[in-house]
This record gives sequence, structure tokens and C-alpha cells, in this order.
Amino acid sequence: MKIVLVGYMASGKSTVGRLLARQLDATFIDLDEYIEEHQQKSIKSIFSEKGEIYFRQLEHEMLLQVLENEEHLVLSTGGGTPCYGNNMTTILQESDHSIYLNLSIPNLVDRISKEKENRPLVKNIPDTELPEFVGKHLFERSPFYLKAKHVLDCNSLGVETVVGEVKKLL
Ligand code: S3P
Repeated sequence: MKIVLVGYMASGKSTVGRLLARQLDATFIDLDEYIEEHQQKSIKSIFSEKGEIYFRQLEHEMLLQVLENEEHLVLSTGGGTPCYGNNMTTILQESDHSIYLNLSIPNLVDRISKEKENRPLVKNIPDTELPEFVGKHLFERSPFYLKAKHVLDCNSLGVETVVGEVKKLL
């Protein structure tokens, strides 16, 4: 079974994915970490040295590679993965379950403001401007996330509960 988690930055994709994979005895892949290992560089350095377009190309290729090579898989994507090229179509075609971890703007802002440094798209945005940035960005991205097979409201749910809810959807 192939399960793909999608959602905005800081929506818990990696934490939920890692625990879910352990409970399902599946391979866990975090697409950002996979790219970092492949390039031997942090996402932050890829963005600053080669730019976003290069990163998106790489992200697209690595997504195809992972979905093709793994059979029993939980894949946590990057926040932008479903929103570029035909990535969301590929995710829908190649996975058994795609799940959008949906969180409100205030909850996302709260989480992102605590961990901006390694996120190139938000690291230079002052905290006072984060709500507006996240609001607009999520508005642009939601149509892609909402194509996922399942949408899970994760507001006020802890990691263990989210994992439990995901398992009920499978
Ligand atoms: C991005 C999200 C990041 C990472 C990159 C771009 C985005 O992943 O892929 O910084 O476009 O939202 P996380 O969602 O894990 O932060």
C-alpha cells in the first residue's frame, strides 16, 4: 500500500508519516530528506545556491522515483509538492491513499513562527506579516491539497490521534 501525506508547511506531515509508517510496518520517506540525501545539501542551501525552479524540478523527479521504487510506503511530501507540474495527478494515480492534513491559518502561523529558519519560503517574512502570507499562500494551494482522496481536519488533534484517524481512512 502506498500512502501519501500532503499539506501546508508545518502541518505535521513528517511527524505523522514517521509514526504511521512505524505502526504499519511500512517504509517511511520524507521527500525533503530524500532530496537532501540525494543532493548532499540542505533544502535551505539548494534554494539559496540553485533557486526554487531547480528545487521544483528535483522535487518532481524524486517524487516519481520514490513512488515508482517503493511498494509498502508512507511518503510525506513537501508543502509545495502537490502544487507544481503534474505532481498531484501523479500522486493520485500512483498512491492508494492521499491524505491532506488540514489545519487552520492561525494554527499554521503559530507552528511556522516557531520554526521559520529552515523554511526558505517563510524565513524572511516578519512574524507580523505571517498571517497574511500564510492566508494567501494557502488560498492558492488549497485547490491542489483538496484533490487528495481524504481530507483530515487536524486542528486541535495531537500526533497520535491524527495517526489513528489516518488509519481509520485506509
Ligand atoms: C516548501 C515546503 C518545505 C520544503 C521547501 C518548500 C513549500 O517542506 O519542501 O522548503 O513550498 O511549501 P515542508 O512542508 O516539510 O516544510
